[in-house]
Amino acid sequence: MGTRTFRTAAVRAPGGPDSIEIINVPVVEPGPGEVRVRVAAAPVNPVDIAVAGGFLHARGLIRQPERTGLGWDFAGTVVAAGPNVALAVGTRVAGLVTGFDRDFGTYAEQLVVPAADLAVVPDGLELVAAATVPLNGLAAAQIVDLLGDAPADGNRLLVTGAAGAVGCYVAVLAPDRGWQVTGLARAADEEFVRGLGAEFTTHTEPGWDAVADGAVLQERGLALVRDGGTFVGVQPGAAPAAERGITSTAVVVHADGPRLGDLLARAASGELPTRVHAVVALDHVADVHRAVAGGSLRGRYVLQP
Ligand SMILES: NC(=O)c1ccc[n+]([C@@H]2O[C@H](COP(=O)([O-])OP(=O)(O)OC[C@H]3O[C@@H](n4cnc5c(N)ncnc54)[C@H](OP(=O)(O)O)[C@@H]3O)[C@@H](O)[C@H]2O)c1
Repeated sequence: MGTRTFRTAAVRAPGGPDSIEIINVPVVEPGPGEVRVRVAAAPVNPVDIAVAGGFLHARGLIRQPERTGLGWDFAGTVVAAGPNVALAVGTRVAGLVTGFDRDFGTYAEQLVVPAADLAVVPDGLELVAAATVPLNGLAAAQIVDLLGDAPADGNRLLVTGAAGAVGCYVAVLAPDRGWQVTGLARAADEEFVRGLGAEFTTHTEPGWDAVADGAVLQERGLALVRDGGTFVGVQPGAAPAAERGITSTAVVVHADGPRLGDLLARAASGELPTRVHAVVALDHVADVHRAVAGGSLRGRYVLQP
């Protein structure tokens, strides 16, 4: 019998959407604490466009000798479990794989992942919707961790890009820590942002107690923070230089199964939006990357391997 294989998308010589290849790679059995998941849905996120474009290779952040995997989050079904795993075969799960420099990704028919990084998808939440939560939900939750508890005398938080995937989740989660949120977004996004429970603006002046920078304004975002306030960015290792006593950090998202379970419950209840622009077969991944690179989408493209 030949080696069993599965299909996955990868880049060998990154150069944009046309450099993405669908290749066959050998099936791997899960080790201790791991499961093998049959992927049902894998969203296309902005980071994937950067990986396929070679920008992270050029910065020395990816050094894969043969191929680089694409995709960070997913939802699917457990098809095999290694030793010491409580998840039964057939369980619906969602999860996140992190780090730029890897030869595998979630744009794949199968994935072997630590069970601790997964959460069970609640009944009533479709796998396609659940797949849109892990990367941007965990990033938002971890941005809110970096913001910390709002000071009693200064709790005005500006969320830039509040209609985006990360920004909208920060807008929903930050009030848990006492922040009073205003979302900066395009004029057409007003109804969506107000529906999150946030105030809304398209233009703003400096003086915010804190800024969470989902729109990647960077130095322009930092300039909106009052002296001694807090800035949290989304570009790992590239927080704008601190000035005027401001604390400036950038989130580096990490997997967290229990936290993801909470986020999925909040998605199932409708508290966290799950926005899907379109569901597309993995074979059309290059077209999807072209569309995402064009910008201005609301909701994710989700690949179905
Ligand atoms: N560090 C980490 O661990 C981590 C984790 C997750 C995501 N990220 C990063 O976070 C960033 C955001 O990701 P995302 O998925 O949320 O992207 P997204 O869904 O495209 O959201 C970005 C939003 O910002 C808006 N925007 C941009 N400039 C604006 C401006 N001047 N005024 C108002 N709105 C503006 C965009 O509107 P238009 O579409 O109209 O331009 C869009 O709605 C990406 O760079 C991503 O790679 C980092």
